[in-house]
Amino acid sequence: MSGMSRRGTVPPFIVMDVVRAATDREAQGLPVWHMEVGQPSLGVPKGVTESLKGVLDSDALGYTVALGLPELRRRIAAHYQRTQGVEIDPQRVVVTTGSSTGFILAFAACFEVGARVGLAQPGYPAYPSILRSLGIEPVSIPVGPDSRYQPTVEVLERFGQKLDGLIVASPSNPTGTIMAPEELQRLTAYCDANGIRLISDEIYHGIAFGQQAATAARFTDQAVLINSFSKYFCMTGWRLGWLVVPEPMVRGVECLAQNLFISAPALSQHAGIHVFDHIDELEERVAAYGRSRAMLLEELPKAGFSRFAPPDGAFYLYADVADRTNDSLEFCRRMLAETGVAATPGVDFDPLGGSHFVRFSFARDEASLREAVEQLKGWS
Ligand SMILES: Cc1ncc(COP(=O)(O)O)c(C=O)c1O
Repeated sequence: MSGMSRRGTVPPFIVMDVVRAATDREAQGLPVWHMEVGQPSLGVPKGVTESLKGVLDSDALGYTVALGLPELRRRIAAHYQRTQGVEIDPQRVVVTTGSSTGFILAFAACFEVGARVGLAQPGYPAYPSILRSLGIEPVSIPVGPDSRYQPTVEVLERFGQKLDGLIVASPSNPTGTIMAPEELQRLTAYCDANGIRLISDEIYHGIAFGQQAATAARFTDQAVLINSFSKYFCMTGWRLGWLVVPEPMVRGVECLAQNLFISAPALSQHAGIHVFDHIDELEERVAAYGRSRAMLLEELPKAGFSRFAPPDGAFYLYADVADRTNDSLEFCRRMLAETGVAATPGVDFDPLGGSHFVRFSFARDEASLREAVEQLKGWS
């Protein structure tokens, strides 16, 4: 009766271990330039916290209905109309505690125990861990620069294994690549025709440096969309996200949400309603990420990091460091200890190929990113 169950035993989220090492270094009074964490350094727009003062005074902030505050669900649906020109019935929107609980709901709702769900490798490390903890089998699909790190129809056909589901993230973490709309359309058609439930992680939508990523909802009503207030909306710690589920699944997901989570935090849901009134400020932040990206594209090669595809979106740059190491974990540990720059080893996203990749996050202000690159310039 001692110890963890097999399905409950998942690997650590390495980036969080890097965060701990960086925090220890700061506690010793040493400087750290944070390029490891995938979160905006600026919090929610000030106007949102101002608006919440009234809510704190007038609302008991109890549980909400499991699917989320109706006004929030309406505003989320309206966001699709404004940004993507897509009509989404607010009844299909399920408010969650960050996208992380959205995954639990979506996977439990869509897949039987033992189902096989494909995911791109490199990819977000929590996907396989959450799947495994639910008794679902993650199936890694190797992707590389030829498909711009995305599991396209060609990649799936070449891969050739039977799948019950597929997770796609566009823009992707860690590479920042976006799947072109036509490519996503072909993928949704392929999934629908082959009985593969598509889970479209759209958490980095809104953060793009050219063409915006398309939502899978433009092409199918069979996909489950996952999204969050963490990235574009700068609300990581508020733990708020949402799903858009196919209409026939709404009631089932509602029952799961009632039982698993009761509701997402009420105050955060009110913040979510208000943040839609501050889109201009959020757009300015995306423009700032764009300036940081341009600076890094120019300066990182001067620091010996030149092998990367310029990211289309999100705020990550995935650099191939094969010319410098074959042990990205040790490389990042040494980089933090010797320069104070914290970055995430590629093995977090790809246990094999990631041994010679490093992910830099540029979700911070440009000045501190410039300082970070300067530290790296003299280091080898
Ligand atoms: C691709 C991707 N999906 C989901 C998440 C989870 O975010 P949250 O639970 O804050 O919505 C992250 C966090 O970094 C991510 O990178």
